[in-house]
Amino acid sequence: MTSYLDKKDIHLSKNFFKKGYFIQKVSDLKSLKTLRKAVVNSLCETIKVKMKKEKDFDRFLNDIHNTIKIKNLNNTRLNILNSINSSSEFHQKYFEVAKNLLFSLVGNELAMQTRVNLSIQLPGDASSLLPVHSDIWSGDSPFEVVVWIPLVNCYSTKTMYILKPENYKKIHSKFKKYAGKNSSDFYKNIKKNVEWINIKFGEILIFNQSLPHGNIVNSEKETRWSLNCRFKSLYSPYGDKKIGEFFKPITIRAASRIGMNYSLPNLKK
Ligand SMILES: [Fe+2]
Repeated sequence: MTSYLDKKDIHLSKNFFKKGYFIQKVSDLKSLKTLRKAVVNSLCETIKVKMKKEKDFDRFLNDIHNTIKIKNLNNTRLNILNSINSSSEFHQKYFEVAKNLLFSLVGNELAMQTRVNLSIQLPGDASSLLPVHSDIWSGDSPFEVVVWIPLVNCYSTKTMYILKPENYKKIHSKFKKYAGKNSSDFYKNIKKNVEWINIKFGEILIFNQSLPHGNIVNSEKETRWSLNCRFKSLYSPYGDKKIGEFFKPITIRAASRIGMNYSLPNLKK
């Protein structure tokens, strides 16, 4: 296959193919801090505490299980989600944090999910788990990627796991044997081969959501906070999630605008 990608893009692509994900240090730290501040601000409003100073954000988020009860977690999460998703600035900063990686791995005419998601995983909470799955199995397009942004350091059970492409390839051809089994049976079979994503605040993860991934109960002493959002090349095939409903175009270029607005001149009277 002909490829005129430059060296940097080839390097990123090779890594992405091999590992199924890529972690990069954020160069636009200001935008990343704006995202975290918006979440903390909305959290403080929701649970009715005074806004924290930036130097205390990390401890505040990591220790939130001392303040929020599991039964109130979903309401808190929904309040924060409504707040961050009502801000177009939040969406723009989210894109800017991941822009270089997205341009290298996905393309420069992009569609972005209309709503950014937030995960809050309190220690010992089994109610907000994401059992092993591939997003494609539930109707997503294999042309989508997920940009996952940790707001605290994530490690061990306080993070997510992914099955690397080489290991997925091994089970792909024998998939029949999992027919009729549930996700926990499937997880037991892949458990020893999954990779746990070790990532710090200040870094972002972009991953191939067609590979099996998920999380388990957080048995660390800190709460996990992470944001996730899908991106895809604007003109690539869509799954169940369509443009205009689930995705919005964010970087349409001049030639595309001309093409979209073009109409043939009418020669008839
Ligand atoms: Fe997923």
